[in-house]
Amino acid sequence: KLPFAENYRIKMVEPIYRSTREERENWIRQADYNLFNLRSNQVYIDLLTDSGTGAMSDRQWAAVMTGDESYAGSSSFFNLKDRVKQLFGFDYLLPVHQGRAAENVLFSVLVKEGNVVPGNSHFDTTKGHIEFRKAQAIDCTIDEAFDTTVYHPFKGNIDLNKLQLVLESYPKEQIPMIIVTVTCNSSGGQPVSMNNLRQVKQLADTYGIPVVFDSARFAENAWFIQQREEGYADKSIKEIVAEMYSYADGMTMSSKKDGIVNIGGLLAMRSKEWFDQASVYNIMYEGFLTYGGMSGRDMNALAVGLDEATEADYLEARISQVHYLGNQLIEAGIPVQQPLGGHAVFVEARRFLPAVPREEYVAQTLAVELYLEAGVRGVEVGTLLADRDPVTHENRYPSTEYLRLAIPRRTYTNNHIDVVAAGLINLYERRDQITHGFTIEHEAPIMRHFTVGLKKI
Ligand code: F0G
Repeated sequence: KLPFAENYRIKMVEPIYRSTREERENWIRQADYNLFNLRSNQVYIDLLTDSGTGAMSDRQWAAVMTGDESYAGSSSFFNLKDRVKQLFGFDYLLPVHQGRAAENVLFSVLVKEGNVVPGNSHFDTTKGHIEFRKAQAIDCTIDEAFDTTVYHPFKGNIDLNKLQLVLESYPKEQIPMIIVTVTCNSSGGQPVSMNNLRQVKQLADTYGIPVVFDSARFAENAWFIQQREEGYADKSIKEIVAEMYSYADGMTMSSKKDGIVNIGGLLAMRSKEWFDQASVYNIMYEGFLTYGGMSGRDMNALAVGLDEATEADYLEARISQVHYLGNQLIEAGIPVQQPLGGHAVFVEARRFLPAVPREEYVAQTLAVELYLEAGVRGVEVGTLLADRDPVTHENRYPSTEYLRLAIPRRTYTNNHIDVVAAGLINLYERRDQITHGFTIEHEAPIMRHFTVGLKKI
């Protein structure tokens, strides 16, 4: 058997600058030890996010050239609408400027004060849009997801007993929907099995509650089903996607991930009633129905991106690269969420840096150390992100503190990945010397991680 390589070759490149440790020490000090404050040219390899950072194909760029910028009735809208119907089976589409905008429009219709929305570890913006409406997001993820040392092939799964308890405990009118995030970003890019999706839909139907998929990384989820779930090895990714969405009533999507475009999102659904109501908010918040928050050229590129992202060869190259990084770390004994997820490697910071006190922001300490060591930018998914308790104003300490290394699609080579791995392994070898982290100098009342300023201890 021959080794597997990328299903593309490169015909345009963007130079990146390697920098010295001394330069990085200055830059990160000037940035108040907040990686969001760095300029991109101060970063050598940028693993802050896989959102909007991928490389478009020549087919996508060709589609950009034929974008139709008509205000109403754009042919690009119909290209996208046809693709959405073909892949997901939904008749109604509203384009929006990104994922959180889809949440804003849909939840304006569905979510009311006092409601509860069960799901599998809702993403921050999803939770934010629920809580902003004085409703509550209830996490029903399986317990295995929170123990990085336990193997489970589908750590994004919903615990059906937890879900049933929620559905029994509240009147139907108070539960506008169940949200299933595929793959589940918050628990480490972990997939949800087809069987779980089917059972969630069955349970939801008995209680008359609709199911919505948060679909940012739907194609990666389908790939894991093909690889790991019995009965799917011989099905195509597109067939698997079609079955997945037969268990949903609607979807929100940030197309900056598996849509492989730099900006954009969508909302799609089966119900004309939802569509009519959501249309009003789409026009108010985003734009007219046939462009929403997107230009014609971007809708065209997205229609092509969705087709490319649902090809098995693309997904194998993409996820192999994520696992290429993860496996190097695992071999070096570095604690990471296992099994490895689809879009990122989640390094468990408290087990990596046991000497750093929890109050000194362990995952942020590791993120800054990796930047200094190798010019690599990851992101803290830990105490800074978890924010303070709204009532007591005490720090909320999450059960796991992660440094997330998210890999952009079709952007870096495995040589870049080798640098990332070597940087982390160097740190791991001298982890005993890293004993202190940071205190907060200033912070915003919510979403503090974006703008927080830190001081070294
Ligand atoms: N849902 C999931 C699962 C996400 O991961 C994201 C974004 C969103 C919704 C919101 O989409 O950014 O287009 O408004 N995740 C990015 C990340 C920001 O880095 O994981 P958006």
